[in-house]
Amino acid sequence: MTTRSAAISGIGYATPRHKVTNAMLSEFMDTSDQWIQERTGIKERRWARCGFEALGETSNLEMALVAARAALQNAGTAPQELDAIIYATITPDRELPGNAARLGVELGARADIPAYEVRNHCSGFLYGLQIGNALISAARCERVLVVGMELQSTGLNLCTAGRNTAVLFGDGGGAVVLQARSTPGILRIKLASDGRYAEKLGLEAPGFKRGYYLKTEDFCGEQPGVSPRMEGKLIFKMASLRMPQVVRTVLGECGFSIEDLSIIIPHQANQRILDMLSHELEGRVEIFSNIASYGNTTAGSIPLALAEAVAQGKVKPGQLVCLTSFGAGFSWGAALCRW
Ligand code: UT7
Repeated sequence: MTTRSAAISGIGYATPRHKVTNAMLSEFMDTSDQWIQERTGIKERRWARCGFEALGETSNLEMALVAARAALQNAGTAPQELDAIIYATITPDRELPGNAARLGVELGARADIPAYEVRNHCSGFLYGLQIGNALISAARCERVLVVGMELQSTGLNLCTAGRNTAVLFGDGGGAVVLQARSTPGILRIKLASDGRYAEKLGLEAPGFKRGYYLKTEDFCGEQPGVSPRMEGKLIFKMASLRMPQVVRTVLGECGFSIEDLSIIIPHQANQRILDMLSHELEGRVEIFSNIASYGNTTAGSIPLALAEAVAQGKVKPGQLVCLTSFGAGFSWGAALCRW
C-alpha cells in the first residue's frame, strides 16, 4: 500500500531590516546588554516599528508575502497550485478579519481554497503544520502553504516595567510549502495544551468579555493591559520540562531514539531554555539556535530558524529533524520530519 504523507518542499523567511541592539533598548528602559545576553542569549532583534515610529516594513502581511513567495519559488510551486493557506500569528494587521485570506489574494492564489487563521502563540506554526499535514494525508489537498509570522514590536511596553518582555520579542518569521508525497516527510506531530496556565502569559486587553473591547485605562499605568505580561520563571521551568518530554514522545511513537535525530529546531525563547533542552537530552543532539540575532518571534520563530538551518546546510536530505515549541496557553508540541 502506498503511504500518502506531507513533506516540506519549499521554505522562505522574512524579517524587518532594522536591527535593534540591546544597547538601544537601554535608552528606553533600565536594562543592559550584559543582563540581556547573560539571561537570554539575545544580542539584537529586528523591529518593524518602535512605538509609533515606522522603521521600515509596514505590516505582518507584507513580511508574510515575502516569506511565502520565497517558499513557493523554492518549492517550484505556483500560487494557483495551492489548495489551502494556513497563517499562524498572534499579531495580524487587523483583529478582524485576520491575514490569511488577504495573503491568498496578494499571492494570486485561487479563491476556491480555504484560508485558516491559527493563533496558538509560540506553538502556532506547529499547530498549522498539523492542519496542513492532516489535509494532505486525508487527500483533501496536494499543496498547502503554512506561514508563521509576527510583528510584535508595536505592542511592547518599552518602559522599565515592561523590560522582562520587551527585550525578548522581535518581528519576523517564515513560510513552508507542504506537498503530498508517497514517501513519508512529516512522520508525526504531537501537540498539547494546558489552559490552567492561561493567565501566566498574555494580554489583559483587548477582550470581548470586558464590557468594552478596549478601555482608556488599558493604555495607562506602568503595566498597560495592551502590552504582554508574563511570569517568566514559571514559563522557563515549564518550557524546559515540556520540550524535551514531547521530543522524546514523538521519537518513541515512531520507534526512534535521540541518536537517530540529526538536529532539533526549537522555538527560540531563551538561550538558557535551549541549553536546558540540550542538557535534558544529555547533549546527544545538535540544538539549532539563532536567538542571538532575532529574539523570540513567537509563531515566526520555528520557520525562521528552520529556514536559516537549511540555508546553513545543517538540515540535509534524508536526515531526521525535530521541531519543538512551548508557549502561551500553555501550548506545546513537536513535529518529527524526514527531510
Ligand atoms: O515564548 C515563550 C514565552 N516566553 C518564555 O519562554 C520566557 C521564559 N522566561 C525567561 O526567559 C526568563 O524568565 C526572563 C528572561 C523573562 C527573565 O529572566 P529571569 O532570570 O527569570 O529573571 P527574573 O524575572 O527572576 O528577574 C530577575 C531580576 C529582577 O530584578 P530584582 O527583582 O531581582 O531586583 C527583574 O526585575 O531581573 C530584573 N529584570 C531585568 N533586569 C534588567 C527583568 N528583566 C530585566 C531586564 N533588564 N530586561
